[in-house]
Amino acid sequence: MSSADILTCVDLAIGHGSHVIMDRLNLSLPAGKILAIVGPSGCGKSTLMRALGGLDAPLGGTTTLMGVDLNSAEGVRRQDILRQTGFLFQGSALFSSLTLRENIEMPMREFLKAPRQEIRQLAEYKLALVGLADAMDKLPSEISGGMAKRAGIARAMALDPTVIFLDEPSAGLDPVSSGRLDELILRLRDAFGTTVVLVSHEIPSILRTADFCVYLDPDTGTMGAYGPPKSFLQAGQPPKVHAFFSQAHFD
Ligand SMILES: Nc1ncnc2c1ncn2[C@@H]1O[C@H](COP(=O)(O)OP(=O)(O)O)[C@@H](O)[C@H]1O
Ligand SMILES: [Mg+2]
Repeated sequence: MSSADILTCVDLAIGHGSHVIMDRLNLSLPAGKILAIVGPSGCGKSTLMRALGGLDAPLGGTTTLMGVDLNSAEGVRRQDILRQTGFLFQGSALFSSLTLRENIEMPMREFLKAPRQEIRQLAEYKLALVGLADAMDKLPSEISGGMAKRAGIARAMALDPTVIFLDEPSAGLDPVSSGRLDELILRLRDAFGTTVVLVSHEIPSILRTADFCVYLDPDTGTMGAYGPPKSFLQAGQPPKVHAFFSQAHFD
C-alpha cells in the first residue's frame, strides 16, 4: 500500500446483515487506474463494489477511499468524499419521464450552484462525451439498451467524479456497443485521470481495459487472485483463475 493508492481494503469482510459472503479481501489501487471485479454470478461483486464505494459498511476490516475510512468518517467529510464518486448501478434505471439531458442535469442541479444555462451546457457536454449528442431530448423508452448504459455513465460522470464505479456496464450489449464502451472507459482514465472500478463478465473487455483485476472465489469465500488481468492468463496462476479467464476468453 502506498500513499498514491486511492482505494484500499485491508482484511475486508462483506455481506448482508450478519451473513459474510467474502472475507480476507486485501487490495490497493493507485489513482487513475482501472480495477475490474470478476467472479461467478452471486459471488459478491456488486456487494464489494458498494463497500469499496463507501455505500455499505464492511462487516469486518477496513476500506479507504481517497485516504479516508468512510465507515468512521462522518458528516461533511464523508459527504465530501462521496460527492467525488459516481455510480452506475446494475440495471441502473434512468428516470423514465425525463429526457436524457434532464436525467444528467438532475445531480448537477442538486449539487452545483450554477445557473440553469450553464448546467444545461455541462449536461450536453457529458452526453456528447458518451456519443449521445443527438439523443439528448429523447426519453429513455426511445433509445436502445446500449444508449441507456451510456446515458447512465454520463449521469455517473455528471459531477466530474475522481472515482467512478460501474456495475456491469457492458452486460447485454452487442459487440459494437461493448467496444465503444471500452473506449469510453479508457478515455475516462486517459483523458480525465478518473479512477474506474467496474464489475464485468466480459473477459476480452477486461483484458483490453483493466490495469488490475480481483477474482472472487465463492468456493473459498475470498479472493483467488489480484493483479494485472493479463497475468491471469499465464502459467503459475491458481488453476481456477486461469480456467475462468482462458475459458471465458475463448467462448
Ligand atoms: N440486499 C441484499 N440482502 C441480502 N442478500 C443479498 C442482497 N444483495 C445481494 N445479496 C446476496 O449476496 C450474494 C452476493 O450478491 P451480489 O454481490 O449481488 O453478487 P454478484 O454481483 O457477484 O452477482 C448473493 O447470494 C445475493 O443473493
Ligand atoms: Mg452483481
